[in-house]
Amino acid sequence: MGNYGRGEKLSAEDWQALKAAAVDAMQNAYAPYSRFSVGAAALTDDGRIVSGCNVENASYGLSLCAECALVGNLHMTGGGLLRAFYCVDAGGNVLMPCGRCRQLLYEFRAPDMELMTTTGIKTMDQVLPDAFGPQHLEETR
Ligand code: THU
Repeated sequence: MGNYGRGEKLSAEDWQALKAAAVDAMQNAYAPYSRFSVGAAALTDDGRIVSGCNVENASYGLSLCAECALVGNLHMTGGGLLRAFYCVDAGGNVLMPCGRCRQLLYEFRAPDMELMTTTGIKTMDQVLPDAFGPQHLEETR
């Protein structure tokens, strides 16, 4: 995995490596209720790959998306910010992060974070425009 400076685009090979990490993560999914396994992987600003799978619960609404595990993994392995993100379903097809997970990713976005989407590579701002974020907590204090 190459080391990327600010504003530098990921190579096609590195997008493929992210996809492979997402597919690997997906194999660990615990999805007996939906039978919809998900894997997510991201490249951090210091060159690590972090990943996660969905973990469901008998109390369905408590199920954790793959992105929840990914941000936990980010922090458990040294923190930092996310440069690029890839999410897949059981067939290895690109999956859009759900609305809640876009917010989770937004919190830890590197300035030029990119996401693989079903319609190509997009920025965080394109998939979550006008986002609420830590900056808004300061405004009314
Ligand atoms: N899921 C994710 O893991 N991430 C998403 O962004 C979309 C949905 C999971 C949650 C649930 O376990 C399954 O997919 C079906 O909704």
